[in-house]
Amino acid sequence: MAKSTCDFLALTDVKRGDFINLIEHAVRLKDQTRAGVCPQPLEGKAVALIFHKPSLRTRVSFEVGVQQLGGNALFITDKEIQLGVRESVADVARVLSRYVDMIVIRTFHQKDIEELAEWSSVPVINALTDLLHPCQVFSDLLTIKEKLGRIEDIKVSYFGDGNNMARSWINAASLLDIDLWIATMPESHPGEEFIAKVMDGGAGKVTVTDDPQAAAKDADVIYTDVWASMGEKDQAGERASLLEKMQVNGKLVSGAKPSCIVMHCLPAERGREITNEVIEGPNSVLFDQAENRLHGQKSIMLWCLNQV
Ligand code: CP
Ligand code: NVA
Repeated sequence: MAKSTCDFLALTDVKRGDFINLIEHAVRLKDQTRAGVCPQPLEGKAVALIFHKPSLRTRVSFEVGVQQLGGNALFITDKEIQLGVRESVADVARVLSRYVDMIVIRTFHQKDIEELAEWSSVPVINALTDLLHPCQVFSDLLTIKEKLGRIEDIKVSYFGDGNNMARSWINAASLLDIDLWIATMPESHPGEEFIAKVMDGGAGKVTVTDDPQAAAKDADVIYTDVWASMGEKDQAGERASLLEKMQVNGKLVSGAKPSCIVMHCLPAERGREITNEVIEGPNSVLFDQAENRLHGQKSIMLWCLNQV
């Protein structure tokens, strides 16, 4: 039976028009929270937070976000569930759906969260997989809206590994009129097939280059992420040699618009993908970005429950 609620497994689960409304909704939720009048539509509801990888921002912002909306969050690690090992993904989905009103999951394989969503009767939210990190880019667009006043007609330049962050930005460029540049090496390309599939009929444009200066030129947003993601830290040395010229440093930022904002989803490895000077510099909005995870995710949860 089809669900009456919505899953948020990728940014592209939201239609373009709804996406713009959802960002506006997140802005209102932030204002209401700051004014001490956050709505409580999750009263009496429980949300399972399943984390198979470490997390500071995502875990805490979901827990606090659920609390601010009046609900209860249950943090569950893979020690308890052992998804697909102790019991099948389908059985976990059906059992959890009898207890909780929503499932938030951070894990390795996108296909596991797709299977979980297929079998659960409650909404499933992707809190990061190896493929995508949609909650991060959603709240980053909230930050861009606040800082630049718009989320379209912008040049966003991403530097470094063609990972879950890069692919979520490609999803954003398929929904919104974004001129997305990805400066990376052929070995860390986010995937030609992925881009072709996502950008077919997309609203924006994606250019992949190994020339960081070309990507930085006139950019409105400079974005980076770690060169070795969770689960790949053994490749950190190799990636550092490969991606050295993609470092976000003062020289690179000086090629962008003077009004550009510098973003990083965090955690950062200072001195590798980004310098300390840039993180602490005048264009950096990294901690506003981290704050907005809280408000962005509240909006996503309410969208999943058809309450936006
Ligand atoms: N940016 C982000 O998702 O941070 P965490 O890994 O700490 O959740
Ligand atoms: N690409 C990083 C993002 C962390 C928020 C990772 O997957 O580890």
